[in-house]
Amino acid sequence: MNIAMIGAGYVGTATSVAFAEYGHKVYVIERDWEKLKKLKMSVLPFFEEGMEELFKKHSANGNLLFFHYIEEVIDQCEILMITVGTPSLPNGEADLSYVEEAARQIGRSMNEYKAIVIKSTVPVGTGDKINKIIKTELKKRNKEISFDLISNPEFLREGKALQDALHPERIVIGCETEKARQVMKELYSGINSPILFTTVKDAEMIKYASNAFLATKISFINELARLCDKVGANVIQVAKGMGLDSRIGPQFLQAGIGFGGSCFPKDVKALLALASAEKTPLQILQAVLDVNETQAQWFMEKVKKALGSLSRKRIAVLGLTFKPQTDDIREASSLKIIHYLLQNNACITAYDPQGTEHVKKIYPTINYAKTTLEALNGADAALIVTEWKEIIEIDWKKAKSILSQPFVFDGRNCLDASVMLELGYHYEGVGTPN
Ligand code: UGA
Repeated sequence: MNIAMIGAGYVGTATSVAFAEYGHKVYVIERDWEKLKKLKMSVLPFFEEGMEELFKKHSANGNLLFFHYIEEVIDQCEILMITVGTPSLPNGEADLSYVEEAARQIGRSMNEYKAIVIKSTVPVGTGDKINKIIKTELKKRNKEISFDLISNPEFLREGKALQDALHPERIVIGCETEKARQVMKELYSGINSPILFTTVKDAEMIKYASNAFLATKISFINELARLCDKVGANVIQVAKGMGLDSRIGPQFLQAGIGFGGSCFPKDVKALLALASAEKTPLQILQAVLDVNETQAQWFMEKVKKALGSLSRKRIAVLGLTFKPQTDDIREASSLKIIHYLLQNNACITAYDPQGTEHVKKIYPTINYAKTTLEALNGADAALIVTEWKEIIEIDWKKAKSILSQPFVFDGRNCLDASVMLELGYHYEGVGTPN
């Protein structure tokens, strides 16, 4: 099938690559000229494991094509997929201006039936709004053209986006007509994953509800970790014991210094804003956000207490991205941690295999190391912020000889506490007895 993918951000690009791999022809529309130029030169705009190879392959074989204006391709494409950003407004609501603009452009340029798919994460009711915008544009042109408005949320995890896009655990399609259902069935016919057909509103809600629930699991275990710390229980064991119950499951119960990234914080805030606008406050979700906002600070207070003071202490900050296998630092806990350390007059040397350049723009004055050992050299403490494999696999025996003091604070509970204690470290995790 011919698909127009409107917006070559992370979701748009990853989804385009997957559809190209399944034999569709994807016309990618990007408004940013600089980005478009790079895309045309086969440069992937972000780092994602395994993606580049397929991106280059399909750019070369013509399954991925890049354009600036939707008008250039709209007549060739039956499916128009909107994958533009929906960032947070200051009040937490999702900013729908890019989605609305895409809808206006579609309304101004379509000449025959289109299946218009919203893949961007949008609050419940957006489908109706977009429907109206397109109809208004068509009316202005005195055109009566039928179309279907479909919600097809994405469930891609950064770092695993290729696998998630090629082999999704589920495909959710919100649509209201049989024609739309058939088009979407054909689109996904090559993918062997369960498809759930719902209304547009249900699909919109499923996306937010899924992210909000996963965020809830994380904040639940993080808050419990604080109590474990106090009473001498080990949250890792607690999570293990809980996770063996198939009704609970083991995933997303890894205590740490909070969730970040471009999705969870933004989506939780947007759902809360929607609930508040509808005068139906979601109390649990508010608590999820509150715990997350304070988790890094709670951890840093532990660090400060253990070190006595942070002033002039040399701290190696290991990991900057919001999770491993990405270069994304949006809403990363590292930013809160660096802020806290600077406020407490600590001297920071940070290391990350992918995210350094981005953090440098926010914190240009701290030191950045090129290797883990360089960061650890002479430091009074090591602080693990992101559980990159190479950070977990540091030779901690050797590290002890180059650290100025043997303090390791593990914000992701990714090291083996017993090994660290045996090596003679003062080791503290999140909700683990030391
Ligand atoms: C998340 C969802 O997992 C995807 O299903 C969804 O499609 C995506 O958001 C989205 O809405 O686009 P992602 O943001 O890439 O994906 O990252 P996750 O792997 O979910 O991790 C989010 C944050 O939670 C990270 O900061 C991670 O460190 C933290 N986390 C995760 C924990 O602190 N503990 C856990 O047990 C799991």
